[in-house]
Amino acid sequence: MLTARLTLDPARPVGPVSRRLFGAFVEHMGRGVYGGIHEPGHPEADEDGFRRDVLDLVRELGVTAVRYPGGNFVSGFRWEDSVGPRDSRPVRLNLAWHSTETNEVGLHEFAAWLEKVGAELMLALNLGTRGTLEALDLLEYANVPSGTTLADQRIRNGRTEPFDVRMWCLGNEMDGPWQLGQMSADDYGKLAARTAKAMRQLDPDLELVACGSSGAGMPTFGEWERTVLTHAYDDVDFISCHAYYEEKDGDLGSFLASATDMDRFIETVVATADHVKAVRRSPRTIDISFDEWNVWYLSKVPADLAKRIDDWPVAPPLSEEPYTVADGVVVGSLLMSLLRHADRVTSASMAQLVNVIAPIAAEPEGPAWRKTTFFPFAVTSRLARGTSLRVGVEGPGYVTAEYGEVPVVDAAATIDDGAVALFLVNRSQEEEVEVSVDLAAVGVAALDEALTLADPDPHAANTTDRPDRIGLRPATRAAVTDGVLRVTLPPVSWTAVALH
Ligand code: AHR
Repeated sequence: MLTARLTLDPARPVGPVSRRLFGAFVEHMGRGVYGGIHEPGHPEADEDGFRRDVLDLVRELGVTAVRYPGGNFVSGFRWEDSVGPRDSRPVRLNLAWHSTETNEVGLHEFAAWLEKVGAELMLALNLGTRGTLEALDLLEYANVPSGTTLADQRIRNGRTEPFDVRMWCLGNEMDGPWQLGQMSADDYGKLAARTAKAMRQLDPDLELVACGSSGAGMPTFGEWERTVLTHAYDDVDFISCHAYYEEKDGDLGSFLASATDMDRFIETVVATADHVKAVRRSPRTIDISFDEWNVWYLSKVPADLAKRIDDWPVAPPLSEEPYTVADGVVVGSLLMSLLRHADRVTSASMAQLVNVIAPIAAEPEGPAWRKTTFFPFAVTSRLARGTSLRVGVEGPGYVTAEYGEVPVVDAAATIDDGAVALFLVNRSQEEEVEVSVDLAAVGVAALDEALTLADPDPHAANTTDRPDRIGLRPATRAAVTDGVLRVTLPPVSWTAVALH
């Protein structure tokens, strides 16, 4: 058995853990909305056509905020289509996902659904095929109490109180060649700055997110962030990061170390934002909205999707990932990366929520159930409270093809009013690791719970036939003796330990 020793240092905290770290993303893509959260004919549908079973799982997942309605979809979206009487809403092509958009679910319905969930609405604006004026119109419709044409239209459409949306994304992945309205960093930076200034004339306290590059692997990455922020630094609060990971060519060792990439990605974007801060002598600090992250088998998205010109289905199944134990472990470690950077990553959205790249499966006319990625998200959202702590890890490493040598044990911790939560991953594919943690520095001595996600087969998954095949198990080999926590981590596992 391998061993590792962890140290917790409350004197050097990372920063407060924003509840917005446990956000998600719902896009009009595949069966995310239609057949996901909304299925009027389903036996579990409520009076608004929302599935109660899905709602229960979303609540259990502990989602705090949801980014909506895209994604790539938003760059072709006319928000006006999605409000007003349902039977007169236009039916449009969803060019991003090669399908038909009925607009049956729009702003009012989604906001009502989020109220049932108990989570914040975060809206993305179309800056791909539309501009500042349409962004202002939506802001007025959503947030002005009454007395203007658009605010009064909202009231006539059934919503007396404003939606009061605080957080707005200024477009989506604007450097992506796949994006409707793709533009250069200069053009986007100027548009984002103009739109943000205009929106702040209506409400100076909005929280605005400029698009970062679509990914750290983009040729535009780095220079895009620098240029966009050079134009928009004074006008926005966040720059976005997006990252998806998958196990490629059976290289499980590299895949399990995906959080190494996320750590570097965040640190690079922080450095770039702070470079612009220095050049501008600005007192402001830009945070990161990591508003799309997950495990996604993007390589399996049909390459001919955009070429199916005669076929525009409504809500076709897309990217309904089966999610293995290893995928769940990686999702757990990506959350740990977010916690390790809680001082600068103050908002994040797991992409997505139901059916599409999702922790929740909702079968047509059938049950809803949890995929492996559900478990680390739900537990981390429940336990990671208060302040994120720096964790020192002394232990073995291993060599990966993608990232060189990485630690076998990945860790993150939080402390909140006498309660400590510890999150641990064992990336070894063969060996258990006994982790010991001296708890004296954090003043806790009692073990409340210890839960593990693991299976002898790291590629095992929940399925329609066996939706409960994989779940969390109590970590039976966890104990505190003489102020030291000892916990044994199975190979390829994610573990959470709560102490007080
Ligand atoms: O989440 C799926 C897609 O991934 C989003 O629409 C897009 O923003 C990203 O490329």
